[in-house]
Amino acid sequence: MKVLLATCASLPSGDGDDDVLIDALAEVGVAASWSVWGSGESADLVILRSTWDYPERLAEFRDWAASVPVLANPAVVVPWNTDKSYLVDLAGAGVPVVPTSVVTPGFADWPDGEFVVKPAVGAGSRGALRVAAGDFGAASAHLDALGVPALVQPYQATVDALGETALVFLGGQYSHAFTKGAMLTPEAEYDESGLFIVERLAGASPSGAQRRVAEDALDAAAGLLGLRRNDFLYARVDLVSGVDGAPLLLELELVEPSLGFRQTDASAPLRFASAVRAALSARVA
Ligand SMILES: Nc1ncnc2c1ncn2[C@@H]1O[C@H](COP(=O)(O)OP(=O)(O)OP(=O)(O)O)[C@@H](O)[C@H]1O
Ligand SMILES: [Mg+2]
Repeated sequence: MKVLLATCASLPSGDGDDDVLIDALAEVGVAASWSVWGSGESADLVILRSTWDYPERLAEFRDWAASVPVLANPAVVVPWNTDKSYLVDLAGAGVPVVPTSVVTPGFADWPDGEFVVKPAVGAGSRGALRVAAGDFGAASAHLDALGVPALVQPYQATVDALGETALVFLGGQYSHAFTKGAMLTPEAEYDESGLFIVERLAGASPSGAQRRVAEDALDAAAGLLGLRRNDFLYARVDLVSGVDGAPLLLELELVEPSLGFRQTDASAPLRFASAVRAALSARVA
């Protein structure tokens, strides 16, 4: 059984966090190797990993994803989850989401207080701007410079102290969690590839309330996509705390999330490998 881990040209062997996966997969009889997306290489299963240049090549990426015979996550996930407008769908399905408006260049009805303007299609914090209360000129200039649809959200001030908590699900079941420090701070720096802001990560034990919201978010996404929960080989649910402390969804990443293997127990890659075996078995059945 041959599996490809799809990445981008500037990270031909991934970003390092997934290094453990090749060995974990080999241990359960799956030969996995890295492949730059769009290269035309075929396999029994192609797993989307660090394909982080797709925001600049979105149509090409979506076409490629649709052309891959067996993709994880399933190809139907890609057009929906590569556009953060999906947050509006999840809010409509009852998931507690950071209040989100989708706007286009020319928008001027900015909210009160501190807020964030970030591209609807984006990764690695690229193009995300934290706007001081009332600095509408900066917000408009940024939106015009982006030149694409964007999300406007109130800045969740709890992130400065607490960061966000990412809950990772493998094969539809909770696996582990990690925290990520605030990204939109003056200290933020891009890594040498320029594809992502350097992240400050640590293992985490999520609360029951966080786990419940994450479970609900996954169920809602599966329902909206007409999938079963275990059709998701992996999922990462990023939560922040609202002012009242209740968890709010910041992102539900089903396409190319870092899964925090360096921040968790040594068994997580084995769970990933087993979920891959399950995906391959479902395919054969
Ligand atoms: N509404 C918000 N309130 C507080 N912080 C925010 C908000 N939106 C974004 N951020 C900060 O900006 C970072 C990047 O935003 P977000 O996760 O939505 O986009 P992204 O580019 O897809 O990121 P990544 O792919 O790295 O997860 C977050 O990790 C968080 O630190
Ligand atoms: Mg994020």
